Amino acid sequence: MRGPERAAIAAPHLRTDRWWLAPAATTAGLLLFVVYSTWRAFANAHYYAAPYVSPFYSPCLAENCRTMRAGPNWEVFGGWWGLSPAVLILVFPLGFRLTCYYYRKAYYRGFWASPPACAVAEPHRRYSGETRFPLILQNIHRYFFYAAILVAGVLTYDAVLTFRDEHYAWGHMGLGTLVFLLNVVLIWAYTISCHSCRHIVGGQLKHFSRHPVRYRAWRFVGRLNAHHMLLAWASLVSVALADFYVYLVASGVFDDPRFF
Ligand code: FES
Repeated sequence: MRGPERAAIAAPHLRTDRWWLAPAATTAGLLLFVVYSTWRAFANAHYYAAPYVSPFYSPCLAENCRTMRAGPNWEVFGGWWGLSPAVLILVFPLGFRLTCYYYRKAYYRGFWASPPACAVAEPHRRYSGETRFPLILQNIHRYFFYAAILVAGVLTYDAVLTFRDEHYAWGHMGLGTLVFLLNVVLIWAYTISCHSCRHIVGGQLKHFSRHPVRYRAWRFVGRLNAHHMLLAWASLVSVALADFYVYLVASGVFDDPRFF
């Protein structure tokens, strides 16, 4: 902070390393994903290539979703929905990631320079943290976590369905199956490494000794939680990769290589 509370140090910071590298790389990575996902979400095309349905479009919640029912299709929005059906889905994983503790740190630093890095003064004169509107809404994260569990469940179902071929016969396995399996593992790892999950599993207990199952679960989630940043990026890349794979196959760039 450059406000009156700041110690009387003339230099904006005393760091001599390349502290700007991490926020710059974060900003570039997030921007790349935002551009890609916006293009794909509004393209409303090439999101289904039997047996694969893009994770951006699953489950289908409107009639204008054309996946031939390879994945779960609950057309609860009927025929009046005119926009891309991806918009109905992406609001949940987007809300989950936007309110994620790690991503908050990442985009506060990368986009708002608040602060740009540890021990580097931010350019703003006042700081209210997340105590006021609109940032107080970040507290909704726990509810997005519940939605994210459902989304991960749907993606798991989709990954299982990739073991069927285009005629819905079981026993298929293609390169896309591996892409989908990798994605769903990373999505689950990111989801359950969430700080809210850690609190739900092991919080509000006085004695771990009386809750050995929850203690073991909390330890497991805690170990994953230590890698939350890595999992956040890995799952972001894998979900884009799974979508891009479907795009390439659906648009005829190449055929899905089959192992059996
Ligand atoms: Fe990152 Fe919950 S804290 S997903």
